[in-house]
Order: sequence, then structure tokens, then C-alpha cells
Amino acid sequence: MTSSHLRTCAILVAAGRGERLGGGIPKQFRRLGGRPLYAWSLDALCRHDAIDEVVMVVADDQLAHVPDGVRAVIGGATRQQSVKNALEALAAGGAVDQVLIHDAARPFLSAAVIDRLLAALAAHTGAVPALPVADSLRRGGTLMGEDVRRDGLYRIQTPQAFRFASLLAAHRTAGGGATDDAMLLAEDVALVDGDEHLFKVTSPADWQRAEHHLLAQCSDIRTGSGFDVHRFGPGDHLWLGGVKIPHDRGVLAHSDGDVALHALTDALLGTIGAGDIGVHFPPSDPQWRGGASSRFLEHAAGLITARGGVIAHVDLTIIAERPKLGGHRQAICASIAGLLDIAQERVSLKATTTEHLGFTGRGEGIAAQAIATVRLPLS
Ligand code: CTP
Ligand code: MG
Repeated sequence: MTSSHLRTCAILVAAGRGERLGGGIPKQFRRLGGRPLYAWSLDALCRHDAIDEVVMVVADDQLAHVPDGVRAVIGGATRQQSVKNALEALAAGGAVDQVLIHDAARPFLSAAVIDRLLAALAAHTGAVPALPVADSLRRGGTLMGEDVRRDGLYRIQTPQAFRFASLLAAHRTAGGGATDDAMLLAEDVALVDGDEHLFKVTSPADWQRAEHHLLAQCSDIRTGSGFDVHRFGPGDHLWLGGVKIPHDRGVLAHSDGDVALHALTDALLGTIGAGDIGVHFPPSDPQWRGGASSRFLEHAAGLITARGGVIAHVDLTIIAERPKLGGHRQAICASIAGLLDIAQERVSLKATTTEHLGFTGRGEGIAAQAIATVRLPLS
């Protein structure tokens, strides 16, 4: 039987507290490049052809983080207990032949590592990614202690792959204290080549390394532009950049008429050649009538995130004689940064008049133009 006929599940362990990293929320839910840390490896697992189902283990107060369509299991006090809870849940749900256990704190998981593990599992009970230790080793506290020969020593990563029944049996009979699953199944676990990028985010320095790695991976730099106009009409406010601004006119529009977000949405779509806002949200479709334009922007940003990309910068110019935007600049930048999930220093807002020339000069309407810079992974 080939591995494609075996039912293969993956368990993503995300029930830890991330105490060594600190920072308010457990590290796996902190956002890296526009999505939570765990989402990077969850995606890699879900995308892999050989994996039939992914189960995510979270603490009972973190269930809201589990995305739709992913089965959630409540974790335990230790990693080992969290894995066991998921194995039992899988066992109760029906036959599973192979299982991969992965730390949510290791975001950069390639399909190649999964391929190597599953290939090794054809001949072994378990398989783990391993990297040889390169540094000299000493056992010691504040003073140097005994040398430890590094020959034959490996750093063990996750995912770790096992035949399901063997791992379940090992967990059912094990004592506590295992920091990975291979420790419970010492015999017949194959080492396959690990990956330096598969490091675990544990300390603040690791978080920085992850940010740098993500940017280095995203070296395909794209620029998109967008432009939008709305005619003024009766009303007492305008929406600009997701902020409601009191004004003696409103705009005529089928949505909330937020020219800034419309221009920005088109700029983002332009970076990935995904058409324009009308393609995604046809004006003829009544469901967008009067709707908040933040949905359009979030949709465009989501398309970039889904490609593993990050939004590097957006620059917006609003063209109108009135209203004056000076007092709203800060609120608009904060709103856009929030919608795009990027730092506020990556959002620029400018405003200009047209010296009473043209339709904006005559006060007939308001226009906005935007440029977005996006970084995508080199494919
Ligand atoms: N983990 C888990 N259940 C636990 C403890 C850890 O599911 N009771 C998961 C973590 O969420 C993480 C992985 O196991 O994805 C590796 O653990 P570690 O890096 O130690 O994460 P934390 O325990 O969250 O961090 P810390 O030890 O710094 O508190
Ligand atoms: Mg821990």
C-alpha cells in the first residue's frame, strides 16, 4: 500500500502559554506578517496532499482562535498531555494510520520536510527532522563543566511522524516529562534531514528571527495603484479610511462611498493582478449596498496573506477642497493600519486641493489615489 492510501492526520499543538517569549498573549496567537503565528504552519499542513485532517490543540480559554473547519481539542498542562488529548480524540473519531505532531511555534514548515517524514514512515515506526549540532558543547552552570562530544548529537525538530497505533500506545503507557513525541518511542525512529528554517520561536530573539526570515522570503516586491471618485450629494458625513467624518455633504455611492478605502483596495488588488474592486464586489450585487468598505479592503489584504505575502506600505492621497483632513489624519491612519494589520508607520496619508480647478475644485466630488507596496514569496 502506498502512503497516499493511508489515512494521515496532523496534530498542531498550540496549548502552551509562551512564557519564555512573554508579551501578553501566548506566542502562537501573536501576529506575524498579518496572521497569527500558528496559521503559517496550519496552512502548510492543510495544503499538503497527503494530510487528510488537521486537529488543533488549544487551551480551553483559546478556543475562539481555532479557525472554522479545523477540529479543536483542549490541551493539557504539558505538551505531552496536549498531544495525548489529541491522539485520544482522533482515536475516538475512527481509524487513523499515520499522524504528524507539529509545534504551532514553528511557523516555517515546508512540504519537503513532510515528504521526507512520510517517506521514512514507510519503513519505520516514527520519523523526525534532525539537524547535526555544530557548536561545541559543555555541561555547566556559571562555570565551564565537562566537555560533551557533539559527534552523533542532533537537534530534533517537529513535525514528527508516527504510525498512529504505536504512538497512541506509547502515550497511554508513558510517564510524564517528554518534551517531544519521539522520546516516547525511542526504538525505530528514523532521522530525516531537518530544516534550519523550522526553528521554534521560544525567545524574543527568535521572534525577531522569524520576522526577518519572513521578509527575506518575501523578496518579490510588487507595487499597485488605485484611484476612485465619488460625487457629493446630500448628507451630513463622509467615510474616509474607515473613519466617519462630519461634513455638510455626503457622497452618492452604492456602498458607504469611502473613496480612500476603494482606492486602497484597488491598489492592493493591483499588486497581485487580481482585477479591481468591481470584479470582487459587483455594484449590481445588492448585498454590498450601503455596506462598510472595510470589507473590501480586508478581502484584498486577505488575498495577499493567502499567498504568504506581507503589505510593506500604503500611501494615500485624498483630493478635495473640503473637508479639511488635518484633524482626522491620525484617526484615518490608525484605522487603515488596523484594517490591514500593519504598523501605523507603514501607512501614509496626504491630502491636496486642486486649486479650485476641475470637479474637485468646484466641490462636486472627492477623489483618492493610492499606491500599495507588497512583498510576496519568490515562487
Ligand atoms: N504546548 C501545548 N501544550 C502545553 C505546552 C506546550 O500544546 N501544555 C505546545 C506549545 O503551544 C508549542 C509547543 O507545544 O506550540 C512547544 O512548546 P513550547 O515552545 O515550550 O511552548 P510554550 O510552552 O507555549 O512556551 P513556554 O515554555 O516558553 O511557556
Ligand atoms: Mg513550554
